[in-house]
Amino acid sequence: MPSRILSGIQPTGNLHLGNYLGAIRNWVTLQEEYDCFLFMADLHAVTVPHDPAALAENTLKVAATYIACGIDPARSTIFVQSQLPEHSELAWLFNCITPLNWLERMIQFKEKSVKQGENVSIGLMDYPVLQAADILLYEPDKVPVGEDQKQHLELTRDIAARLNFQFGSEDKPVLKVPEPLIRKAGARVMSLTDGTKKMSKSDPSDQSRIDLTDPPAVITKKIKRAKTDPARGLEFDNPERPECNNLLSLYQLLSDQTQAAVAAECEAMGWGQFKPLLAETTVAALQPIQTKYDELMSDRAYLQQILVEGKEKAQAIAAPTLAKVKTAMGFAQ
Ligand code: TYM
Repeated sequence: MPSRILSGIQPTGNLHLGNYLGAIRNWVTLQEEYDCFLFMADLHAVTVPHDPAALAENTLKVAATYIACGIDPARSTIFVQSQLPEHSELAWLFNCITPLNWLERMIQFKEKSVKQGENVSIGLMDYPVLQAADILLYEPDKVPVGEDQKQHLELTRDIAARLNFQFGSEDKPVLKVPEPLIRKAGARVMSLTDGTKKMSKSDPSDQSRIDLTDPPAVITKKIKRAKTDPARGLEFDNPERPECNNLLSLYQLLSDQTQAAVAAECEAMGWGQFKPLLAETTVAALQPIQTKYDELMSDRAYLQQILVEGKEKAQAIAAPTLAKVKTAMGFAQ
């Protein structure tokens, strides 16, 4: 049996280069050797106010994006979180063993709850518990995500360990404890308007990110306007020059080169020379994805069929895991 991988993305708005380079692109390589379970985290998408008219459409768009980026539905399982009640049910069981103060410490909760003002839902605080359920239901070996998810994965491991401690025995744990997989390259793609902030779907400025569906002219304009600095020559890893590091890293990843090659190529360049090069490289990297995406979005029946099959394959793994946890916790079966 190949080892198993699980990961997901929230269907909130368009996916951007951070989602692609930090997550999806790695999944595409990983599916060569792992059995991949990839889903749309639509239950997570409703932890902040959402538009019901857009939720199903956004979910389908994310599925199309996975496939357009190279996820092969014949090899990997693609499914919708909310279509498997196992996720919510296991989250409830985890709620009852997770100390409240573990959740109060979560950085993402603190950041997002500030933005919500008076309107913070219990769901927003519970977000990482649901994420732990998403993961542990599939007992994956690894969970490939961007750097921002590290704390949630640590919490997942803590919840698994606590469940094992309370309801299992040392030689017979109830659940497998997974490892995070955070690749250094692309793990933290930064905003185009501020190199110290991560690129994010929830940034109010559209200029701060490049969406995977942005047309070439928009990509070029966003890169042209991206924040830079007045220093001469371009370099990686200078803490005084976060924007420079970010734009060079984007170029490196999108042109599939080593850091050393890019450092040598760009060391004497000015922004006026580099920005058109980055724009051209980004447009060329996204063009095949966009063509495939448009094709997929015009064949909804095909996408729906993949999700029906994905649900079945996912449930075949998730249902027995949930049953195992319920038995361990003493529920009548
Ligand atoms: P979401 O939708 O916020 O992010 C999806 C994936 O994209 C990565 N990512 C980034 N990587 C690099 N640079 C960035 N600027 C950047 N922004 C986002 C995230 O790290 C993530 O890998 N909570 C998850 C969704 C989820 C999940 C799960 C993931 C729900 N259940 C179970 C793994 C396993 C999230 O943040 O989605």
